[in-house]
Amino acid sequence: MTDEAAIGPLDLAEHVDEALAVQALAFGLSADEVGVRRHIVVRHMTCPGARALGATTPDGRLVGFVYGMPNDRTHWWSTIVEPHLRRHGRDGWLDDSFVITELHVHPDHQARGIGRALITALTDAAAEPRSILSAIDVESPARGLYRSLGYVDLAEQVLFPSAPRAYAVMGAPLPLRR
Ligand SMILES: CC(C)(COP(=O)(O)OP(=O)(O)OC[C@H]1O[C@@H](n2cnc3c(N)ncnc32)[C@H](O)[C@@H]1OP(=O)(O)O)[C@@H](O)C(=O)NCCC(=O)NCCS
Repeated sequence: MTDEAAIGPLDLAEHVDEALAVQALAFGLSADEVGVRRHIVVRHMTCPGARALGATTPDGRLVGFVYGMPNDRTHWWSTIVEPHLRRHGRDGWLDDSFVITELHVHPDHQARGIGRALITALTDAAAEPRSILSAIDVESPARGLYRSLGYVDLAEQVLFPSAPRAYAVMGAPLPLRR
């Protein structure tokens, strides 16, 4: 619970349109990108161990969400980042690791502790001893949040096919730092 939203389990496949509306505003997604993401999110939620949490206002509006899953080296994301991590001798981070796939908070509700509460609660329930994620490779509020939770850069300037901007891969021991 934060001052303005309750954090709790989210049936993301059921609420995918509300979640993507939040992501579109927070991260900037075109209508076409929302359509593509919709399929990806629904498929991700069928992966073993995939879990999502939502932040909901007292009047029932979803204003933030996070989801992730135990990393699987055969997943698309993992195959893209693996050579970058391997180059630095860090690809062991892909094993026994909980990957944060998305974290987004509605712009009207940012900077009030919701993002921190979501990612901390999701990873607290993970069985894995560490967590990995990718973030656009600039100093952003997201990057600041991740650093404050103990995530460090594992690889920089990672390009995903079709994404115009380079990403950094970050990893942190679990539980996340308070
Ligand atoms: C990243 C994001 C999820 C953080 O959620 P949030 O609810 O705004 O974050 P919190 O209020 O929990 O803030 C946690 C930390 O983030 C950082 N932060 C948040 N807003 C910030 C801002 N405007 N400028 C700099 N740092 C900021 C700070 O480190 C902050 O810690 P502090 O409050 O102890 O100073 C949210 O800003 C967001 O949705 N951004 C756009 C989408 C995005 O980039 N998602 C991540 C993709 S990798």
